[in-house]
Amino acid sequence: MEQLLQQIEAYRQEIGSLTPDNAESLEAYRIKFLGTKGIVKNLFNEMKNVPTDKKKEFGLILNEFKQFAESSYEDWKIRGSSLNGQSTASDLDLTLPGDPLRPGSRHPISLVRNEIVHIFGRLGFSVAEGPEIEDDWHNFTALNLPEDHPARDMQDTFYIHQHPDWLLRTHTSSVQARVMERQKPPIRIICPGRVYRNETISARAHCFFHQTEGLYVDENVSFADLKQTLYFFVQEMFGKDVRVRFRPSYFPFTEPSAEMDINCRICGGVGCPVCKHTGWVEILGSGMVHPKMLENFGIDSNKYTGFAFGMGIERICQLKYRINDLRLYSQNDTRFLKQFIPAL
Ligand code: PHE
Repeated sequence: MEQLLQQIEAYRQEIGSLTPDNAESLEAYRIKFLGTKGIVKNLFNEMKNVPTDKKKEFGLILNEFKQFAESSYEDWKIRGSSLNGQSTASDLDLTLPGDPLRPGSRHPISLVRNEIVHIFGRLGFSVAEGPEIEDDWHNFTALNLPEDHPARDMQDTFYIHQHPDWLLRTHTSSVQARVMERQKPPIRIICPGRVYRNETISARAHCFFHQTEGLYVDENVSFADLKQTLYFFVQEMFGKDVRVRFRPSYFPFTEPSAEMDINCRICGGVGCPVCKHTGWVEILGSGMVHPKMLENFGIDSNKYTGFAFGMGIERICQLKYRINDLRLYSQNDTRFLKQFIPAL
């Protein structure tokens, strides 16, 4: 018993002299004193060797020692975690790997835009850009859409209060107007960009989307050139087996006008919700540039002719990557975006 008491006193002094200042030394202390095979446990095991009349006294001393060993441990732990906040030198492990920076990917709209630019680039089209905040003249009036023209109704947009003449452009055709204003034929441009319409947001409509306009003005440009250029484009974009059809249409800035459909890439033409069970999907509007448009910009319409077209990039994307909800493009959900990493 005497010997045990001396031992306890020696342990008490040992604990008193310790200052574990990092997680490893604290854990070593815990294992040595408080572990299942630790000193405290061993001392309790000695209880059976203590004479019965001394058991009570020894028990009290031992319990007190146990509490001391435990509370010392708790104190060090609390001090350690508050020190961690200030990050002591020994806590800082500079060899640990950092948080990974995940590589980003191109947005599907950018992927398709770049591909369109690349395909038309090979045909000699260069890229032209214009402002998203437009004036009435470039977005509508110059394009043969005077005020009160019924075709304006299809392209309601956002107007700027203090400047009733300013609006968010409804199509990239405004860039046609801007280019013809400053450049004389030959003109061979494509104009990718963002456009706006006053639409309720749903899977099929959004208040902003992207278009690519095309314009080719030169001597002897014919409707045959328009058809062949657009046919070449869709073959490059969707594969040689793509089928096209042109439907007569109306745009105030082209005459004659046509919409171009391709056979549905989602169902292969048998019918699905995307092609509204017709097997065909409209991908663009097009036509021969209206002579009045050319004259608006001082281009001699007896000498020059041209064709123009405008397509929605989201629609091309939908058919290429089978994206069935327009909202996905702008939600910034990485579960959607990271699927395009391999498409880079
Ligand atoms: N600007 C038209 C639209 O947004 C598309 C178009 C462009 C049609 C060029 C003909 C020529 O609907």
